[in-house]
Amino acid sequence: MNRISEDIIKEEISGGSRRSFLNISILISSAVVLGGIIYPVLKFLFPTATTVGMGEIETFSMSINEIPVGSAKIVRYKNRPAIVIRLKEQEIYALSAICTHLGCIVKWQEDKKELFCPCHAGRFDLYGNVLGGPPPKPLSVYKAVVEEDRILIKEV
Ligand code: FES
Repeated sequence: MNRISEDIIKEEISGGSRRSFLNISILISSAVVLGGIIYPVLKFLFPTATTVGMGEIETFSMSINEIPVGSAKIVRYKNRPAIVIRLKEQEIYALSAICTHLGCIVKWQEDKKELFCPCHAGRFDLYGNVLGGPPPKPLSVYKAVVEEDRILIKEV
């Protein structure tokens, strides 16, 4: 083989591997794009327990230092707003923060030691009982315990 034909063969080989590399790159890129489109569609069509809210973590945990004594904090428990109230050093209450009237978020009133719904002036005590206003039933109550400087919230 002469020098020119060797160069032609080398060029053919490197051109072929370049083509292969481009083909593989296009294939991988297409797979990524298709995966990005198909995955959300499949997730929507075939929801898992987690995506429909059945597989949430049963116990919520937070540092006790996040809530100063006398105050409250809205947290997300089981994909819904809950209110955690720290009345005294180790006295913690946890309730659903969703008003049973029309679903507004209740607020803690430290001076009155009760929960107030700003939408239609619904009022609840620390046990979720209705004290006044239009709410037809009590707030859901959760079990709140303190373990090693952490507040744990669970279903009752
Ligand atoms: S939504 Fe709470 S009182 Fe109406």
